[in-house]
Amino acid sequence: MVSFAFARMPPIQFGPGKLSALPRLARAFGQEALLVTGKASLEAGGHLERTLDGLRAAGIRVRRIVVDAEPSTAFIDATCAALRAEGAEGAPIEVVIGIGGGSVIDGAKALSAMLPHRNSALDHLEDVGANRPHSGVKVPYVAVPTTSGTGGEMTKNAVLSMVGPNGYKKSLRHDNLIPDAVIVDPELMLTCPPHVTAACGMDAFTQLLEPFLSPLASPLSDALAWSGLEQAQANLVPAATDRGGDLEVRAGMAYASLLSGVALANAGLGLVHGLASPIGGFFEIPHGVVCGTLVAEATAANIAALRKAEGRPGPAGRPEAALAKYARVGILFGGDAGKGEDWNCDFLCERLRILTEALRLPRLSAYGIGAGDLDRIVEKTSNRQNPVPLTPEAIRALLSRRL
Ligand SMILES: [Fe+2]
Repeated sequence: MVSFAFARMPPIQFGPGKLSALPRLARAFGQEALLVTGKASLEAGGHLERTLDGLRAAGIRVRRIVVDAEPSTAFIDATCAALRAEGAEGAPIEVVIGIGGGSVIDGAKALSAMLPHRNSALDHLEDVGANRPHSGVKVPYVAVPTTSGTGGEMTKNAVLSMVGPNGYKKSLRHDNLIPDAVIVDPELMLTCPPHVTAACGMDAFTQLLEPFLSPLASPLSDALAWSGLEQAQANLVPAATDRGGDLEVRAGMAYASLLSGVALANAGLGLVHGLASPIGGFFEIPHGVVCGTLVAEATAANIAALRKAEGRPGPAGRPEAALAKYARVGILFGGDAGKGEDWNCDFLCERLRILTEALRLPRLSAYGIGAGDLDRIVEKTSNRQNPVPLTPEAIRALLSRRL
């Protein structure tokens, strides 16, 4: 019997030139906007002036904040306090607009969540601080991603981090934090550099593969994850290598990323993201790099563990076992349907290792992570919605292979 829950989706404008819909969408929420962007990427593409002109022409007053790193609770608290102080003399912010990569999309989401409140974002962070649920009261939020990676425009959580020996990377979460409108315009992605495209694209791929293999997967989440996987398989390498200027290719990855957000929000994530949380908390390493550098070895470790597991447990509500699903992905990546499940699972592992090399994903050691760090990483790692629980030894071994 099929049984699942599925979250609300925001209205989506998808396609080249759709950024032009922003003034109309934002104006529906009010006239006082907070524009959250990255440091320079919007200027580089010539999109910032066009955006500001369009918003002003629609009668919207704009204050701008720059997010130039993965956002922290301290940054969110300080920015909210400063904006509230301004608001005491002027009008309060009626709509938050986030245009940028994953850090901007999540930073703007956290600002929209915390602007109406006077307490710290830390109070609501899962497993950190007071762990109090967020009320869901927020400022409306329009999300416009400029990278194809986190899919944060479709999710109900904002990841906030503090990097260091006691660091963390945790979520501020509420169903209401799903953005109120989303614009995905692949023209904004044309200037994204190859190494960023590669890391973000591997994150999107991982966020499609992990929900597809999740015990919480449903026929609906599978259909969306599969549609995204098809586009990721076809477009990831071209986007990150020789065809980054091709709008069709960028649109394919933008679509994969968008669907990865829907898939993860509704079916959860597996071990790679379970590892990304402590690794990103302890070390200054981009989220996409962690996912991209680990996904091949984590897939191989999962397949090995599933082969040993009795009864080959399949995702709930689905007759298909996890290994059959991995084999399907192997076939999508160029395998041979006539050669059976085992062969195609092995083929997938091999293809993902080749992909990791082709996209030049850095090893963990490039970010100062050594063998001596693995125990504390493993200790803080959750198996999350992995298709099979892995032992600490197996997790340590897969990390060692990417040092
Ligand atoms: Fe991710």
